[in-house]
Amino acid sequence: MSSDRFRLLFAKKASEAFRAAYSEEYAASGDEQVFNEEYLLQQLEQPKDPSMGRFALPVFRYGRLLGDKPPDIAVKVAGRMNELPGDSDLVRAEAAGGFINARVNPVELTSDTLDRVLSQGSHYGDSDLGRNRKYLIEYCSANIAKPYGVGHLRSTIIGNSLRRVFRKLGFDTIGINYLGDWGTQFGKMIVAYRKWGENVDLNSNAVKKLLDLYVRFHDEAKKNPSLDDQARAAFKQLEDGDPEAVRLWETFKSISLAEFDRIHRMLGVEFDIITGESFLNDKMDAVIERLEKAGLTRLSEGALVVPLDDPNLPPCLLRKGDGATLYATRDLAGLVYRWETYRFHESLYVVGSAQADHFKQAFKVIAMLEEAEGLVPSERMTGRVKHIDFGWVKFEGGAMATRSGNIIFLEDVTDKAVALAKEKILEKNPSLESIDETAHQIGVGAVIFSQFSVRRQKDVNFVWKEVLNFEGETGPYLQYTHARLCSLLRKYSGEITAEIDPALLAGAEEQRVIELLADFPAIVEDTARTYDPHLIASYLLRLAAAFNKVYQRKTSDGRSDKIISDDVNLSASRMALVKSVQTVLHEGLYLLGIEAPEEM
Ligand code: ARG
Repeated sequence: MSSDRFRLLFAKKASEAFRAAYSEEYAASGDEQVFNEEYLLQQLEQPKDPSMGRFALPVFRYGRLLGDKPPDIAVKVAGRMNELPGDSDLVRAEAAGGFINARVNPVELTSDTLDRVLSQGSHYGDSDLGRNRKYLIEYCSANIAKPYGVGHLRSTIIGNSLRRVFRKLGFDTIGINYLGDWGTQFGKMIVAYRKWGENVDLNSNAVKKLLDLYVRFHDEAKKNPSLDDQARAAFKQLEDGDPEAVRLWETFKSISLAEFDRIHRMLGVEFDIITGESFLNDKMDAVIERLEKAGLTRLSEGALVVPLDDPNLPPCLLRKGDGATLYATRDLAGLVYRWETYRFHESLYVVGSAQADHFKQAFKVIAMLEEAEGLVPSERMTGRVKHIDFGWVKFEGGAMATRSGNIIFLEDVTDKAVALAKEKILEKNPSLESIDETAHQIGVGAVIFSQFSVRRQKDVNFVWKEVLNFEGETGPYLQYTHARLCSLLRKYSGEITAEIDPALLAGAEEQRVIELLADFPAIVEDTARTYDPHLIASYLLRLAAAFNKVYQRKTSDGRSDKIISDDVNLSASRMALVKSVQTVLHEGLYLLGIEAPEEM
């Protein structure tokens, strides 16, 4: 939870009140820490129902410690809190079952929130929570010489957003793209290219042509299994550094890199480091040696494995009978490399849930190694490495029909989204100046937002009509609301300031907007804590809906209740709200990786 002055004061008073109301039990508890201000601040929760208060402190855990019933504790502590001197008007404590709810003075909340948003602008919600903490976030990790699939899209979009969120919170964040540029599939590609690639012109549409070669290899290998042996031999050549094999591999690689780069520019996605599995080729032996030395390896039918002390996990395969290493071997080398290079606070792997067992195995091997080596806790990465998993993307009616069977091409999706967005603009606002650019922002924004429409672990159901609906729970709806706010700001000629009369924003609709604006910093922190940008996405939908209630409200005689009117003070107060919502919407969309056009 982010600490605004209301929370700070509440935690301070709660800490004092606990000690005063339970002085003996407190002294005898032997657990002073749980009565600390900082600790209590961490415990504050958001009530499900906003009418219960701004935030709440659950006191259940104090029952046993204090030898009293939680509801009684809540009553006693809340009572004491309200008796304490100092800013008694700012927050009131209110016992409700096992909770102490906080009622915040609405006038104070209004001026405090508007002041913070308007003075901090896009920095509202920034913090130094992450100071001196290094976070590695791996995302995308698409495969060379294969199409960029929707799974990679989802990883990319989630990871890019997490990178922005962690940066906002002051973490030293490094975004890594770990390309699948090594493995037996390159043996197949080399064989396919040697056999059928001679006349293929790789100067245009190369990725597609590489894929065709790959698909052809699989088709022919079904009829002619000796192709697989040839592929193994070709991969061995590559591993041994055979110049012709290496040259082909490098060609495939540079074609794919150029393509990925184009896609990432189109999506507005950034990385700090682009690396790949091949980078770890010379780093695997050292890990294998360490594992052998620690006595963790076994030979199993000629292969080198690490049996895992977890009945649900099969042994981790390090080296096959023919000496070839595997995907897992490279990840182990990568884990060690990243730890030794960065000494990270956490290292995240944003990869689909289909690879859950793979990461469990890899992390388990590391844990066993660190245990066997008797490393002190500060030398261990165990507990710091995390698989940030996510569900599938399902297209309406099963897989979307594409050029090549059941693989979904990302660009088929974004191209269609941009085209649909353009149709919408031509229908709604044909005089718009930069139609193509805006259509791009809306189409891409719609695709990005769709990935956050549900919690990370859930599957996304991608339905065209829903994704681009300007009125639905979509990216375009948020962009549209934002553009509307910008249009109000263009129309308004007065000055925008937080020095307004808060009483003019005392209506229930305005207050809901203010509460939501005040929640933004906490939402950003919750996103980092749960590694789930869905929290920001659903928050922005609530904010836009709450603001639209103000915007669409009618006066008692049925006329529309204008934001900008002849009433100078009222207009000023409402425009302070407009600017604040626009600021938070803009920043929230930015954190998701979505652009916010000013007109659409
Ligand atoms: N390239 C892999 C794939 O597409 C994903 C890599 C995930 N990251 C990792 N460190 N294993 O399946």
